[in-house]
Amino acid sequence: MATRFRTTADLALSILCLAVPGPALRAQDAEAQFRKTCMSCHTIGSGAKTGPDLKGVTTRRTKEWAMAFIQAPGATLDRGDPVALQLLKDANNVKMPELGITPQEAAALIQLIEDFTKSGKTLGTKGIDRPATPFDLTRGKQFFEGRLRFAQGGPSCLSCHSASGAGFAGGGRLGPLLNAAPGKYGKNLAAAIENPAFPSMQGAFGQRPLTPEEAFQVAAFLHSVSAQPPPKRSVLFPVFGFLGLVGSLEAGRRLGRKRFRGVRKNLIPKA
Ligand code: HEC
Ligand code: HEC
Repeated sequence: MATRFRTTADLALSILCLAVPGPALRAQDAEAQFRKTCMSCHTIGSGAKTGPDLKGVTTRRTKEWAMAFIQAPGATLDRGDPVALQLLKDANNVKMPELGITPQEAAALIQLIEDFTKSGKTLGTKGIDRPATPFDLTRGKQFFEGRLRFAQGGPSCLSCHSASGAGFAGGGRLGPLLNAAPGKYGKNLAAAIENPAFPSMQGAFGQRPLTPEEAFQVAAFLHSVSAQPPPKRSVLFPVFGFLGLVGSLEAGRRLGRKRFRGVRKNLIPKA
């Protein structure tokens, strides 16, 4: 009988629950969204990046203004809103992009900013702002190629990308050639690498992000080679990739003969 509505009051309550909009986003969802969508340009309490430090934003603006701005920065600006105009000027005319944030998400993000502001915790890093040294370029190249391991264990960039001067046989083809990225992202390249906005990179780095230092060094390397002609995309990279695959299958065969038999049947004749 537990599943039956015992009283009319219960029934009314259930109908009410169905009618109210979906539950507010949980705090950890808001934090994940902030990391994914906002952190390449903003920190909470670690200083300004492309956009202002958002610590205490609701003490300098009303919540309504912040809600509206997060959902539609362009429209706020187009209305001639004086605060938005001033912010744009302070940000060297870099406009905050339209990010398709829903009202619920905006409310959760503001709540998140207020929680961090109140507790004094910070979210995001400002990135590193100093000229790159030859040491940075060397390390950046080694990280890119996977000859140096990232502290958190993220995969090498070369496994999905190529760039001039990296690897002797070009790189992976899942991601684009990165020679144009420095021109596209300018001084925000390190931030874009540290907090990638691309689903495929979030999958690879979400749980094992680069440190600000690592992102800075990889970005410095990319800046240093961006003007060079693109690498010849050698036929060798897929060949080595294939040899690597066969090698690991061979290792697998030695470990457990039966398990890979079916796979080998398909692969070995082509080799
Ligand atoms: C590509 C960079 C970029 C991204 C991504 C970005 N912003 Fe912004 N944001 C800016 C810039 C730049 C400004 C300053 C206003 C302007 O120039 O448009 C700004 C301003 C703001 C302001 C007003 C700050 C103040 O001091 O009044 C808020 C609030 C804000 N952003 C929240 C967010 C949130 C939340 C996200 C993620 C959903 C986000 N932004 C994503 C660049 C960005
Ligand atoms: C698992 C594969 C993978 C790995 C590993 C990877 N990336 Fe990517 N990356 C991609 C893909 C795919 C895209 C294109 C996403 C898109 O356009 O939607 C991309 C896009 C980019 C972009 C933007 C390019 C542009 O023109 O806008 C940059 C910059 C970048 N990656 C840098 C890096 C760096 C630096 C590393 C190493 C720290 C790295 N990536 C590691 C898959 C990867």
